[in-house]
Amino acid sequence: MVRLNKYLADCGVGSRRECDRLISDGVVVVNGKKATLGMEVSEHDQISVNGKRVGDKQKNYYLMLHKPKGYVTTVKDDLGRKTVMDLIDVKARLYPVGRLDYDTEGLLILTNDGDLANRLTHPRNEVNKTYICRISGMLTDKERLQLERGVLIDGVKTAPARVRILKQDQHHTRCEITIHEGRNRQVKKMFEAVGKEVEFLKRVAVGELRLGGLKRGQHRFLNDYEVEYLKKL
Ligand code: URA
Repeated sequence: MVRLNKYLADCGVGSRRECDRLISDGVVVVNGKKATLGMEVSEHDQISVNGKRVGDKQKNYYLMLHKPKGYVTTVKDDLGRKTVMDLIDVKARLYPVGRLDYDTEGLLILTNDGDLANRLTHPRNEVNKTYICRISGMLTDKERLQLERGVLIDGVKTAPARVRILKQDQHHTRCEITIHEGRNRQVKKMFEAVGKEVEFLKRVAVGELRLGGLKRGQHRFLNDYEVEYLKKL
């Protein structure tokens, strides 16, 4: 037996929270009766959502893509630009977890597991994301500390971050920055807040899951260890 919200999430209906909402809305029916929050079901039960039968649990796929710049992180782009889905040849209906800007490259996870996608992107879970960036000019230690302690973007202070300077000369600084929030264009806006422009941005890790040697535009399936690790984050 398994909780109904988990069963529905495993069937690809939505995240557990979304499934709970459907149950509360009274649109989930189990064996002809309106379902209730917290109830348990087995695969022998007849379950429908909005009158549509929910069948076998879907197989979940998890993969990482090395997103190149010049691709939109979406399933379909209204402006007809190339999307990250153009780089994936998996038949299942996958979708990206979180977002990288059009001109950002690096590690993007794709899955059809709505529960995991929600968990990885929910601010409460504070999942670390690590980026390598090249910025204009020299980043001073004072600015580095400001970034680490939090800067105002759109009037709201950012959570503590970790910033390491990897290399610098008078014109550029190469650094590694780890943040656990996922605000829109966050890294670029953080550097903007200390008067620096991000010229190049690449996500190299989500938690301890690293992009490694995966080539730009290539993808690979995550192994069981990696999937279990992400589920525990
Ligand atoms: N921060 C940004 O500014 N852009 C991204 O794509 C990701 C994080």
